[in-house]
Amino acid sequence: MMGSSSVLSAVVKRLEGKVALITGGASGIGESTVRLFCRHGAKVVIADVQDDLGHSVCNDIGSKAASFVHCDVTNESHIRKAVDTTVAKYGKLDIMFNNAGIVGTPNPNILDNDKGEFEQVLAVNITGPFLGTKHAARVMIPARRGSIISTASVCSLVGGVASHAYTCSKHAVVGLTKNAAVELGKFGVRVNCVSPYLVVTPLTKKFFNLDENGSPGIYSNLKGRMLWPEDVAEAVLYLGSDDSLYVSGHNLVVDGGFTIVNPAFGII
Ligand SMILES: NC(=O)c1ccc[n+]([C@@H]2O[C@H](COP(=O)([O-])OP(=O)(O)OC[C@H]3O[C@@H](n4cnc5c(N)ncnc54)[C@H](O)[C@@H]3O)[C@@H](O)[C@H]2O)c1
Repeated sequence: MMGSSSVLSAVVKRLEGKVALITGGASGIGESTVRLFCRHGAKVVIADVQDDLGHSVCNDIGSKAASFVHCDVTNESHIRKAVDTTVAKYGKLDIMFNNAGIVGTPNPNILDNDKGEFEQVLAVNITGPFLGTKHAARVMIPARRGSIISTASVCSLVGGVASHAYTCSKHAVVGLTKNAAVELGKFGVRVNCVSPYLVVTPLTKKFFNLDENGSPGIYSNLKGRMLWPEDVAEAVLYLGSDDSLYVSGHNLVVDGGFTIVNPAFGII
C-alpha cells in the first residue's frame, strides 16, 4: 500500500519548471535521480560516457523530459559543452548534479597503489565536480540562483572503507562544496553534497556478492533495510528543490547512522 508521503509526492511536482544537468546519469544513483527528477516535472540532461545506456534511459523516459550529451567529466571542453547544450535547449540551468564517479581498484596496500590510477580516480571524482561546479556557476551567477550538488560518500567522513584514492577524492568533494558555497552564496547559488553509505547497484551487487535484496551480511546501523539508489535520489531531490532554499555548504549524509557510531565499543 502506498504511504501518505508517496501519495503526496505522486501529486506534488517539486521540480516543475526546473532544468537539471546530471553527470553519471546513465546508471545507478544518477539514473535513479534522472527518473525521479523527471517524475517531479524537471527537464533533465544526462551527461555520461556510456552513450548507449544514456540514450536508452532517455528513450524510456521520453525525449520531452530527458536528453543525453556525451561528456567525460575530466574534460573541461566536454563539461562546458554539456552546460551550454543544456542552456541552449532549455534556456537556463537550475540544478547541477556532479554525480559521476569511479571506485578504482580497492587495493588496501599503499605499496601496491599505482600513481596513475590514484590520479585517475581523483580526476573523475574531484576534478569532475570542480569543472561541473565552475561551469554551472558560469551560468548560475548571472541568473542569481541555482543549486549545485555533488555526490560524496561516507568515505568523506571515515577512513578505511575504500581505497586511498577514493577516500581522498570524497573528502575533497566536501572541501569543494564548502569553498564554493562560501563564494557563490553572494549570488544566491547554493552548493551541497550527499554522502551515501553502500548503495545496492549492479556494481556493488557484483563486488560484494549481494543478492537482489542486498545482503544482511553487510553491516548496517539501521536494521531491516538496505540503501537503494532511490533513497539517495530523494535526498538529491530535496537539495535541488525549493524545499531546501536556505541549505548551503551542507554534506547530507544518507547512511542510516553508519558514521555516527563505532560498533566496536558502546554501552547501548
Ligand atoms: N554505490 C555506492 O555504494 C556508492 C556509495 C557512496 C557514493 N557513491 C558515489 O555515487 C556516485 C554514483 O555511483 P553509482 O554507484 O551510481 O555508480 P555507477 O557506476 O552505477 O554510475 C556511475 C556513472 O558515472 C559514469 N562515469 C564514470 N566515469 C565518468 C566520466 N569520466 N565522465 C562521465 N561519466 C562517467 C558511468 O558511466 C556511470 O554511468 C559516484 O560518485 C560514487 O562514488 C556510490
